[in-house]
Amino acid sequence: MILPAGEPAPTLFEARDLSLSFGGVKAVRDVSFEIRRGEVFSIIGPNGAGKTTIFNLINRIYDADAGTMSFNGEDMSRVPGHRVAELGITRTFQNTELFDRATVLENLLIGRHVHRRTNLVAECLFLPSARRQEVAFRSYAEQIIDLLDLQASRDQMAGALPYGTRKVVEIARALCAEPQLLLLDEPSSGLNPEESEDLAFWIEDISADLGVTIAMVEHDMNLVTTVSNRVMAMADGAAITTGTPSDVQNHPEVLRAYLGDFEGSDVPGEREGAPLARKEPSAGEREGEPLARKEPSAGEREGAPLARKEQCEGEPLANKEPPTVEH
Ligand SMILES: Nc1ncnc2c1ncn2[C@@H]1O[C@H](COP(=O)(O)OP(=O)(O)O)[C@@H](O)[C@H]1O
Ligand SMILES: [Mg+2]
Repeated sequence: MILPAGEPAPTLFEARDLSLSFGGVKAVRDVSFEIRRGEVFSIIGPNGAGKTTIFNLINRIYDADAGTMSFNGEDMSRVPGHRVAELGITRTFQNTELFDRATVLENLLIGRHVHRRTNLVAECLFLPSARRQEVAFRSYAEQIIDLLDLQASRDQMAGALPYGTRKVVEIARALCAEPQLLLLDEPSSGLNPEESEDLAFWIEDISADLGVTIAMVEHDMNLVTTVSNRVMAMADGAAITTGTPSDVQNHPEVLRAYLGDFEGSDVPGEREGAPLARKEPSAGEREGEPLARKEPSAGEREGAPLARKEQCEGEPLANKEPPTVEH
């Protein structure tokens, strides 16, 4: 987003010295950062760096072992997870989490659920207040459908859509709760280069037209540099540096973090190109596109090209993306 020059925008979200361990793994250690109102703030780093865990902490899926978080100046360290969307923070997941047997519009209306103000009796009796609310919901969902160019898919079952469209629908659904802060976890994973370019436009439109602040975890450096105002780089659970996309990309420690990961790779395809080069979908991910694009396997979607997630056996919390709990 183009932010006015001069004074930095006010802080919308702030994390101070956040730490979280899973058994012996220090997933996040003493991480501090702020997200300013109106900006696109990206978090980059090799796989396993702790990026998704930061989102899971913001979303209150996990309690931090230490540190504080505030939103609009209010402490949110103890806000229950189910209240986070009401507070004004929604997210998408690394793996899309849509209701496959519902249409796109229905999925979006579910996303609006957080704004329901009528009670159950009013809804059952379909009183005027409930009717007005339903009309308002639908009109907002239609606006989002227009903004993200989803008219053609509006009445299709989400399960029947190509992967790239599903990812956009997931963003649309998160927007339907009218968040102040939208968290996008690897929005470009599994997308082809053309779809990633479209995504850059959607992100810019969301930012400019809806005024929504965006925090994004992303591997595609083209996308990161195109849309981000500021970038935080992480490695091994810690923040290395925060700054403009070009400053961060050229920071020696950032290059080292990626290079270490890159050299550690023993898969030939993963060695090609520069460590921070754009991620191209693997052959498997792109087979049969565009109409019958194969759903990337869980591994392909969760893992970035350069590394694998460590499995923590015996850990009570599964090393898996959590279920949809944000709405
Ligand atoms: N629920 C969990 N249980 C156990 N370990 C986890 C869990 N979530 C993440 N981890 C571990 O924490 C580290 C950071 O993971 P994550 O935040 O998913 O990294 P990133 O998103 O940067 O790839 C990894 O070592 C990962 O295996
Ligand atoms: Mg992740």
